[in-house]
Amino acid sequence: MGERWTPDTWRTKPVEQQPDYPDKVALAQVEGRLAAMPPLVFAGEARRLKSLLANVANGKAFLLQGGDCAESFAEFSANTIRDTFRVLLQMAVALTFAGGMPVVKMSRLAGQFTKPRSEPTERQGDVELPSYRGDMVNGLAFDPAERRPDPERMIRAYNQSAATLNLLRAFAQGGYADLHQVHSWTLGFVASSAQGKRYDALAQEIDRALAFMAACGITGETTPQIRETDLFTSHEALLLPYEQAMTRIDSTTGDWYDVSAHFLWIGDRTRKPEGAHVEFLRGIKNPIGLKCGPSMNPDDVLRLIDILNPANEPGRLTLIARMGAEKVLDKLPPLLRAVKREGKSVGWVSDPMHGNTIKSGTGYKTRPFDRIMAEVRGFFAAHAAEGTHPGGVHFEMTGQDVTECTGGAQAITDSGLSLRYHTHCDPRLNGAQSLELAFLIAEELQRLRSATDANRVAVAF
Ligand code: PEP
Ligand code: CO
Repeated sequence: MGERWTPDTWRTKPVEQQPDYPDKVALAQVEGRLAAMPPLVFAGEARRLKSLLANVANGKAFLLQGGDCAESFAEFSANTIRDTFRVLLQMAVALTFAGGMPVVKMSRLAGQFTKPRSEPTERQGDVELPSYRGDMVNGLAFDPAERRPDPERMIRAYNQSAATLNLLRAFAQGGYADLHQVHSWTLGFVASSAQGKRYDALAQEIDRALAFMAACGITGETTPQIRETDLFTSHEALLLPYEQAMTRIDSTTGDWYDVSAHFLWIGDRTRKPEGAHVEFLRGIKNPIGLKCGPSMNPDDVLRLIDILNPANEPGRLTLIARMGAEKVLDKLPPLLRAVKREGKSVGWVSDPMHGNTIKSGTGYKTRPFDRIMAEVRGFFAAHAAEGTHPGGVHFEMTGQDVTECTGGAQAITDSGLSLRYHTHCDPRLNGAQSLELAFLIAEELQRLRSATDANRVAVAF
């Protein structure tokens, strides 16, 4: 597919999962306004992320990607953003400490506003309305006016993304993420839990390491990595009129970048090689992701890799496997083998959320903690067997004390789900469950590290 590409060539391809806007004039007008708005991220930042993701692809770093299933206008507040940020920091600390390798931090925030749906419409009784597709498209309430796709929502989502990103940048670079603050990231409701205590013990070790380093002359003043961090943004590039309007030529390189986020991914439902989403993403120079569900076979993945990363550039493409706990050991190894055999450079990440959604006895969409962890373990086991690098994890999580996924040390039960079930789409891990999972993954990384060290010793002898 070496064909000519421009930000609008996707319009000549079959497109899935787009809203049917009743007012096309209003849509075109919004697209024009968006195209004139400032970028949310800069091309240089996306290139820096690509170089960090090249380390993930080469087995030298680990990716932590997490945040909302769907951001919403209603849940927009400084506290919500801060709490997700601090849980991500805590998880990253646990993973870095155990893995002994850099953790690349990426949020599903500042742009994750659209959702693919299994049905274009929803019926309640005699009434049929368009399905909810995320706050960037329409409203959640089952009401004709709310469900009508409204392009003005793109402007509102853009503005919320800008404000979110502004706060995330301030948190990342303004002192909040300083490693000396490691104790203060614990949320009130997590502090007294087993994970909270485990985290506190880890934080004390970090304190000791920082004191030792300070005695050797390495401090936040000499080493900015101690006092600040990088948090990159990502979302599913689903609503193509929005993504097109946010795609600009970078004046430094003359290349096209989608400046709505650092990293964009293609969902499992919109990854047809001849479809519009693959067409759009092949042309932007950002690092990109591709979700791989259980129906992806080795030929499909190789074909998509050729389209999306024809130069086989490390860091360009991250494959996000979301097979489900029962299928991961069956479906993932053939993909790992094919990609390795063909010498393709990709990062491999586990999304243990989307293949493990069930309906609870009480009628809520939920995800059992044990199944989530089982998929992560299967992901690590598959990589160990194939000799490939388990490059990271992708979660739907929040810092809030929600009750959306069952299980974990808090032992949330089916009947407990209704207490604080706030998600606008899929069930998220709460702050305590996220940290618990990070510690379990840290154990996997620790095992991997011991195995690698043992191999090195064996080779040295
Ligand atoms: C998502 O990440 O929210 C999503 C819809 O995932 P998938 O495309 O893997 O189903
Ligand atoms: Co989701």
